[in-house]
Amino acid sequence: MISPVLLIRPMTVADLPSVQLIERASFTTPWPPQAYRQELESNRLAAYLVGLIGEEIVAYGGIWLMVDEAHVTTFAVHPRYRRRRIGERLLLSLLDLSVDRHAREATLEVRLSNLAARRLYEKYGFRPVGLRPRYYSDNQEDALIMTTEPLAGAPMRERLARLREALDASPPPSAAPDDTLTPAEPAQQAPGRDPNEGVA
Ligand SMILES: CC(C)(COP(=O)(O)OP(=O)(O)OC[C@H]1O[C@@H](n2cnc3c(N)ncnc32)[C@H](O)[C@@H]1OP(=O)(O)O)[C@@H](O)C(=O)NCCC(=O)NCCS
Repeated sequence: MISPVLLIRPMTVADLPSVQLIERASFTTPWPPQAYRQELESNRLAAYLVGLIGEEIVAYGGIWLMVDEAHVTTFAVHPRYRRRRIGERLLLSLLDLSVDRHAREATLEVRLSNLAARRLYEKYGFRPVGLRPRYYSDNQEDALIMTTEPLAGAPMRERLARLREALDASPPPSAAPDDTLTPAEPAQQAPGRDPNEGVA
């Protein structure tokens, strides 16, 4: 049998029902489908990717490419597919896209309590650079602002090359969701992703 691989491609409007399922399972204040539709159809600064295993969308993420900065607006992996390096592969694709579009650095906001996401971002070279007090409206939690070193600089390029090599050497994500592998984590609020707030 051929091992299933994760295919990463640009998000389309046809993907939105699947994206919405993951969104609702992942975030306490999900974006409505209309917000994604608007991003895809009208925001020329935005780039959104989805990850598929077979026919199923298992992850998505997006960035806004503003001047020389790539701002991660949303990022999630289906709860039943977490801890399979899908988040890593998708984040690497977003960073590759940022480099291709000549972004100098990448940045995002993450809930202070979201340790899983913080660990992932740290692994990929994001470092805490500040706080946005009471950024999240549901519980007034602070957002941690995380930013990479220059994407074109040697430390970041070497980090990404090392991580890419490790991903290439690891087995591809499994097709069959395993409920026992990772209990669904509590829904999170994403970084700076409220379309009404815009990117701070
Ligand atoms: C954060 C998230 C995207 C991670 O996706 P994932 O596919 O499960 O992550 P990966 O398997 O690629 O893990 C990569 C790294 O992330 C970190 N990580 C992921 N899940 C973690 C967890 N539950 N606890 C601690 N670290 C975790 C680890 O550093 C891991 O590397 P390691 O295995 O070498 O330790 C996923 O948990 C998710 O969708 N969460 C809900 C939505 C969300 O919080 N989005 C981010 C908003 S800022």
